[in-house]
Amino acid sequence: MARYYVLLGPPGAGKGTQAKIVTDALKLSHISSGDIFRENLSKQTELGKLAQSYMNRGELVPDDLTISMIRDRLQKPDCINGAFLDGFPRTPAQAEALDKMLKENGNEVLAVPLITVPVDVILERMTGRLSCKDGGHVYHIKYNPPKVVGVCDIDGSELYQREDDKKETVQKRIEVYDRQTTPLIEYYQKQGKLVEVDGSQAITDVTACLLKALSGK
Ligand code: AP5
Repeated sequence: MARYYVLLGPPGAGKGTQAKIVTDALKLSHISSGDIFRENLSKQTELGKLAQSYMNRGELVPDDLTISMIRDRLQKPDCINGAFLDGFPRTPAQAEALDKMLKENGNEVLAVPLITVPVDVILERMTGRLSCKDGGHVYHIKYNPPKVVGVCDIDGSELYQREDDKKETVQKRIEVYDRQTTPLIEYYQKQGKLVEVDGSQAITDVTACLLKALSGK
């Protein structure tokens, strides 16, 4: 059976940072719905143009667009052994659609780590975040700075501040998370799959907790 994991947590909890490290360690594909939308945005595809206004307002892209985008992504050959989903699902309709998609091939989500972080930490993390233009690698001006200012250590591309990382938009994204995504905590708790991880620790400590939570699942 293929291994599928869903990483939950509020904006800025460290999902992308952890997903990149954990997928390397577990040799799984990392699927970030936010990264796929941003890639489409930078290429100005139809999907990117449709998603842009929602993203810039800190709102969720409609379920039908998001679900069909993830369905296509999960059919790529690199997902044959499973995937680590970061940022999807984010609504009950997306979670139900994912369960259905996986079931069609005799698979299921095996575990759902929830990274928890207090709101003041979220605000500091997101307003100090730097993202890389080409590979989506993530830095923080204070907690995880690049070796050379403004340049990604991994692929040398330019670092920039995301449009939706402005304070007002971050607050809106937290509200949207509370309203639309927190019902998934109960959804996965009922399935016995939720594991809480304290995201306020240092990056390496969060990784250790995540790997421990996933071991044997
Ligand atoms: P998306 O890109 O998924 O944003 P998000 O969930 O809001 O998550 P972030 O990427 O902001 O944060 P993160 O938890 O990955 O934190 P990171 O590791 O970067 O979505 C963007 C938008 O796309 C949405 O608003 C929506 O419009 C749309 N969208 C995406 N998916 C969708 C879906 N399924 N349905 C509908 N719409 C969707 O870390 C943050 C910062 O903290 C970094 O600077 C990092 O270096 C630092 N940091 C991380 N961990 C630590 C630590 N332990 N200690 C200190 N600093 C740390």
